[in-house]
Amino acid sequence: MLRSLRVRLPAIFLAGILVAAGVTTGVAIHFFQEDTRSRALGELRRQARGLADLYALQAASSIEETRNAPRFAPPILERATGSVIYYSGVEIFPGQVSGLRSLPERYLDWTILDRGRQQTLEFQPPGTDRVFLAAAHPVRLGGETFGALVVAKPRAELRERWVVLAERLGLAFLAGLAIALGLVWYLTRRVTKPVRTLSRAADEVARRRYGAELPNPGTSDEIAQLTGRFREMTGRLAEAEAHERHFLVRVSHELRTPLTAIRGHVDALREGLTDDPETREASLAVIRAETDRLARLVGDLVDLARLEAHSFTLDQHEVELRLLVEQGYQAFAEEARRREIHYDLALRGDPVLQTDGDRVLQIVSNLLSNAFSWTPDGGSISLALSQENGSVSVVVTDSGPGIPPAERDRVFRPFVSQDGNGTGLGLAISRELAQALGGNLKLDSVLGRGSRFELRLPATG
Ligand SMILES: Nc1ncnc2c1ncn2[C@@H]1O[C@H](COP(=O)(O)OP(=O)(O)OP(=O)(O)O)[C@@H](O)[C@H]1O
Ligand SMILES: [Mg+2]
Repeated sequence: MLRSLRVRLPAIFLAGILVAAGVTTGVAIHFFQEDTRSRALGELRRQARGLADLYALQAASSIEETRNAPRFAPPILERATGSVIYYSGVEIFPGQVSGLRSLPERYLDWTILDRGRQQTLEFQPPGTDRVFLAAAHPVRLGGETFGALVVAKPRAELRERWVVLAERLGLAFLAGLAIALGLVWYLTRRVTKPVRTLSRAADEVARRRYGAELPNPGTSDEIAQLTGRFREMTGRLAEAEAHERHFLVRVSHELRTPLTAIRGHVDALREGLTDDPETREASLAVIRAETDRLARLVGDLVDLARLEAHSFTLDQHEVELRLLVEQGYQAFAEEARRREIHYDLALRGDPVLQTDGDRVLQIVSNLLSNAFSWTPDGGSISLALSQENGSVSVVVTDSGPGIPPAERDRVFRPFVSQDGNGTGLGLAISRELAQALGGNLKLDSVLGRGSRFELRLPATG
């Protein structure tokens, strides 16, 4: 169950969401803290500057007039600003009450303040356990720093602000998580449902049932591509199975026909129905021909089975193709003369190949045999050998009836034959052989004008 995509996908999505949300929240809180701190400091600085300037102004005029302490009202100021205000430094009005809280001088950096500049600091006032964030502004009279006004805020106040933010972020995160979970559930279903359907279909195919339900092809995503490939594969498997069944039916039929003929003639001979020596001779000739046919058929079937299983052994050696093609040509020369077929041989080049000569001759003979079967008396057949760009080709052209486009692929399949005496294995074996030799066999044809078969072999060395 834990290994199932239905669990693993949501778990991965969820982990991703949690990591993203954690990182985002951490970064957001960090920046918010920084921002709150710098805003608070800015505010404290402004307040400190204003108060210090005011204090210095009032002090200056008080000294001139009455030498009384300025009428400062810190509690009112503190209520107005929400900050705590301290004074640190030389008491300008000794013995008089300024009303400001006093902060020991050691808390401040006088090297900064003496130069008339502000200082920001964090400190813990004596007698408290709270840390304050503060801005100190020098109080200057006649160009000299006498002390500093310090405006401070408890640091905990800032923390409260981002705690509120964190709570709100947490709520937003929970809402987001709920939506994300819904989406994850939906997406996971979208991914796993077709995969499960495909898996059931694969089980069906394993039981040789090819009509199983497949996921709807609506989209063009990877699952749809996989479904498309699966459909193709199932189609091919079904076709291969039908082909296999057809093949077996054809093989048994092809084997039975000569066997029936042989049995008929043997029975007739045994029962003495054919006393006349001439008829006996004719019967024996038929038996001989049919046995030859059977032997050839069985040999062809074995070849084809081995070729298709890629367990065909080739006897490779140096072959002078010119001699071999001439040999193939001569085998049909007598038939051509008898049937007045214009039979022509063209040898261009003298290629020597590392190949299986007997098999090459078998292909050429198959092609010539077909050409002679289909070319009418008085027609023309040509055999040509040529060599070009790393390959050697042997072409057989005839002036027969040609092969219709729809048949051009089919004729290379086993048992496809229009020839009453043929088994339909010739071209199937020839093409497999050509491929086993590293080459190929191609067909061009113009209906009513003739056919052209080209055997192409790689020119080695
Ligand atoms: N040169 C050709 N011209 C016209 N049709 C041809 C030609 N060669 C082959 N064919 C067609 O292709 C079919 C298959 O040829 P193939 O050589 O495989 O079998 P076959 O000649 O009928 O039998 P065999 O196994 O004895 O060769 C033929 O029956 C014929 O219909
Ligand atoms: Mg043939």
